Amino acid sequence: MLPSLIARKTFKKYQELYSVKPLVSRSPGRVNIIGEHTDYNEGFVLPAAIDKAVYVAVGKRGDDRIELHSIEFNSSYKTALSEIAPREGQWTNYVLGVVAQIVKRGHSISGFNLVIDGEVPFGAGLSSSAAVECATAFALNELFGLHIPKEELIFIAQKAEHEYAKVMCGIMDQFASMFGKKDHVVKLDCKTMDYEYVPLKLEGYKILLLNTNVKHSLSSTEYNVRREQCEKGAAMVKKHHPEVNSLRDATLEMLDKYVASSEPLIYQRCKYVVEEKRRLLEGCEDLKAGNIVALGQKMFQTHDGLSKLYEVSCKELDFLVDAVRDNPEVLGSRMMGGGFGGCTINIVKEEAIDSLITKLSTSYSQAMGLELTPYIAIIEDGTSLVNMED
Ligand code: GLA
Repeated sequence: MLPSLIARKTFKKYQELYSVKPLVSRSPGRVNIIGEHTDYNEGFVLPAAIDKAVYVAVGKRGDDRIELHSIEFNSSYKTALSEIAPREGQWTNYVLGVVAQIVKRGHSISGFNLVIDGEVPFGAGLSSSAAVECATAFALNELFGLHIPKEELIFIAQKAEHEYAKVMCGIMDQFASMFGKKDHVVKLDCKTMDYEYVPLKLEGYKILLLNTNVKHSLSSTEYNVRREQCEKGAAMVKKHHPEVNSLRDATLEMLDKYVASSEPLIYQRCKYVVEEKRRLLEGCEDLKAGNIVALGQKMFQTHDGLSKLYEVSCKELDFLVDAVRDNPEVLGSRMMGGGFGGCTINIVKEEAIDSLITKLSTSYSQAMGLELTPYIAIIEDGTSLVNMED
């Protein structure tokens, strides 16, 4: 793969700053076909890595200092390895959180310089943060010869998000970024971490992402609240069924019996998750059987569940899904990722994409006063080093 423009820019900036050649890694953003808010409930997800990535250039220093530079934010930060700490709302958390985890696991590293740039839009539900974490973890692993397997790097990246960004995310984003495979989606069992690559054959259809340009700033607190609500529901069921450790093991009947009357809100949240678990498994079979129409219908159902039961949508996302519901050229549409903003994911007939974008851009900006940003998602490989000699 030839280094992209952004990879070259990141490499060049590093050389300008430090006059030596760095090692460069890339890690992509992701889409998720179906299976939302199921990962932290030990359910399944169906994500894929996309052709928009974050690039990290790194090199060793002779001391224990860390120097970070973000091209996108035109911002630098310097610290000592022994003094790293979370800084609320700062981009450095996604890098330093990874460093903290590597050190915590007993690996020995010294000071380094790091330059970062990316093309995964922030707050769009495409997991730019996981891309930063995975690119950093991968680069440092190579730079210091740590030999940490990719299977562990993803948990290092996830913990960075928990402890430095304070979002109690599941494992989907980091997994998809690291293990993505060109032209495939990954069916991941978040309980056992078993996974299967499923070819994404859309036969004349494409994945169109429509970014609402509403940044999901609310999402981190609400995300953690949803996670707690699910855990509470699972604990209520467990009292009667000790074998139930998470909503993965719960059924609708159990929720009806033990949660519905005493905790209606918790019930609503858990009901969505248990229904989504089934939808994903069936949707994955639809995909394998080439029945994209059936898969698309499930995507609309997922959106309704996320909007009405799980309540993580917003009026802009609902507008975009409602706008294509009766359009025969759009097989499926739903909000994607954590929620409260970001993108919808749509399966759209190839020839209809341009006219749909034109139509929706106008109606969306008239109704919401915001610009709509479309992307066609191309499914790519996960995290890798970038060979800058090419
Ligand atoms: C965010 C989290 C993921 C997952 C999704 C919702 O992207 O990082 O772990 O929970 O939301 O499916």
